[in-house]
Amino acid sequence: MEEELLSNKELKRKKTIAILTSGGDAPGMNGAIRAVTRTAISAGYNVLGVRRGYHGLWRGDIIDLDSRSVSDILHRGGTFLMTARSDTFATEEGLDKAVGMTEIFNIDVLVAIGGDGTARGAKSLADKGVPVIVIPATIDNDIGATEYSLGFDTALNTAIQAIDKLRDTASSHERCSVVEVMGRKSGYIALGVGVASGAEVLLVPEEDFDFDDDIMLTLITDRNAGKRHYIVVMAEGVGNASDMAKLIEERTGIETRSTQLGYLQRGGAPSFRDRWISSLMGVRAVQAIIDGRLNRMIIHKNGDCNDMDLAEALATGKRSLEDSLEMADTITI
Ligand code: F6P
Repeated sequence: MEEELLSNKELKRKKTIAILTSGGDAPGMNGAIRAVTRTAISAGYNVLGVRRGYHGLWRGDIIDLDSRSVSDILHRGGTFLMTARSDTFATEEGLDKAVGMTEIFNIDVLVAIGGDGTARGAKSLADKGVPVIVIPATIDNDIGATEYSLGFDTALNTAIQAIDKLRDTASSHERCSVVEVMGRKSGYIALGVGVASGAEVLLVPEEDFDFDDDIMLTLITDRNAGKRHYIVVMAEGVGNASDMAKLIEERTGIETRSTQLGYLQRGGAPSFRDRWISSLMGVRAVQAIIDGRLNRMIIHKNGDCNDMDLAEALATGKRSLEDSLEMADTITI
């Protein structure tokens, strides 16, 4: 009898969805939080916001969200729930504490918004029995299972605008400008930015390069062909822009300056694409929950949002850059 009463009470309890953002922030995270919150509320769920990512989860840094608490954030960069990289959550003890908090707050499903590390964190919670949905958001766009991760488009636009400006001054002074963009382990930003800004040299961590053949020869050939300024785009994973600039100047005699775009690329108002896809992904996340498809990653492929098994998504290899690099080589001569 007592058991029956308990299960009736359980049945009457509104299901709760909690949302967190983790790892490096990305423009579009706010749009995803807003879409999840509003779709979930209109479907009858209770919604919680976990502040400061997994760090906030194990500490119980959790607030109520309603439709109004996510007003006025769609057009803002960053994440209003804040983010962190948590060392404690990565430990067995931290993970257990986080699981404990999901029980204390009656969290039925956790929606985790972030990059690869965030998805792996979500998987470790899923393995402990906490249902999760992952929305990919990282300016690096390096999650193999999805063609698009939130923040990439805005970051590219920010970097391209900066490089257009650098080209003006490089051209006036007939200089070479070395620009370091983000991407510790991946070259998607460098590739996109390099192609879209017409860079003469493009360096990514996925591909080895030879200084003499790939940089010096290209720049000297370009100079002999009449070019009077040059842009070298390199991902941060390849090395340091100021060292590269010194080397180029020493070896080619071309006056060279360096710029590290750094965290500029992570901020700013989300582009149309990031607002649109974050909204689609947020709605899709709640749809998956309603349909009982849990432990999934929301993915974007061929212009459409879908969801796939999280373990499968994490096992998907990186998308190859090879063809695009070849294309870049051909058109930047
Ligand atoms: O957001 C992705 C990324 O920008 C990487 O390109 C970079 O290596 C890393 O995050 C640095 O972030 P943080 O300094 O916040 O750890």
